[in-house]
Amino acid sequence: MVCAYRARASRAKAPLFVDPWAEAIAGADGHAIAATLDARFPPMELWLTLRVAYLDRLIGRAVDQLSIRQVVILGAGYDTRAARLPRAGVRFFEVDHPATQAAKRARIAELPGYPVDNATYVSCDFEREDPVTRLLESGLDAREPALVIWEGVVMYLTEAAVRATATRLATGLDPRSLVAFDFVGKRLMTGQGLAGQGAETRRLVGELGEPVRFGTDDILPLLVECGFRWVRSLDFNELALEIIGDYQRERMFRFQHIALAAARTPVAGWL
Ligand SMILES: C[S@@+](CC[C@H](N)C(=O)[O-])C[C@H]1O[C@@H](n2cnc3c(N)ncnc32)[C@H](O)[C@@H]1O
Repeated sequence: MVCAYRARASRAKAPLFVDPWAEAIAGADGHAIAATLDARFPPMELWLTLRVAYLDRLIGRAVDQLSIRQVVILGAGYDTRAARLPRAGVRFFEVDHPATQAAKRARIAELPGYPVDNATYVSCDFEREDPVTRLLESGLDAREPALVIWEGVVMYLTEAAVRATATRLATGLDPRSLVAFDFVGKRLMTGQGLAGQGAETRRLVGELGEPVRFGTDDILPLLVECGFRWVRSLDFNELALEIIGDYQRERMFRFQHIALAAARTPVAGWL
């Protein structure tokens, strides 16, 4: 489904990013799921497009302005950044649940020309295992900073797994590292007081087999408790305004956010 949306975004007249692999990975099944979601939550395509575009740009800034040479994609799913955004001297690590990772690797192995060796693959179940230990075993250098992208994942984890993973990221990596993840508000998690498109989205996500389990309206306390000392939280209406230059109240971007976190303040002026 995510690949179907990335494929559509890539065909736009002035695309915010181009993913040449998304169409082939999505296949008819991916487009069918996206079409079901379109009917229930039309802003989904723009939400995913903005999320991908913002995080793609963050990789460029982290590499250019923070001299980061390690990019970790946590809960990678069908992420193609290792293939789309290779940079000289930059290593990509894809961490995912063993079942999803096996399915993704089988799919990309069938795609002629897909640079499967651009990423180091690390399997980890965040509910039971520590991704930082698994990354270090797989060659991540804890004396060098990393950019960790945790996109479209924390809402599907228990709060205990979010806290355990965030604590290891804050304390087990080089303190110049930066973590970026998106999260949803508490109402999407509990369903309480949710109506219309919000309720439909929550129901459909559950039907697809990944119910929303974690949501918060204030991520800062959790991140501080986990050991982070610099936090920024971005709202999707602000992102839409910045990236595509407009605001529309009816988009329903009321429950999605992106957080940036670091164990110490990054160099001034990089963001
Ligand atoms: C909606 S997909 C997002 C994939 C990708 N990051 C993206 O934005 O396109 C959710 C991802 O979270 C991963 N995930 C969910 N629960 C997990 C767990 N307990 N341990 C590891 N990964 C998990 C899934 O395997 C899947 O890759």
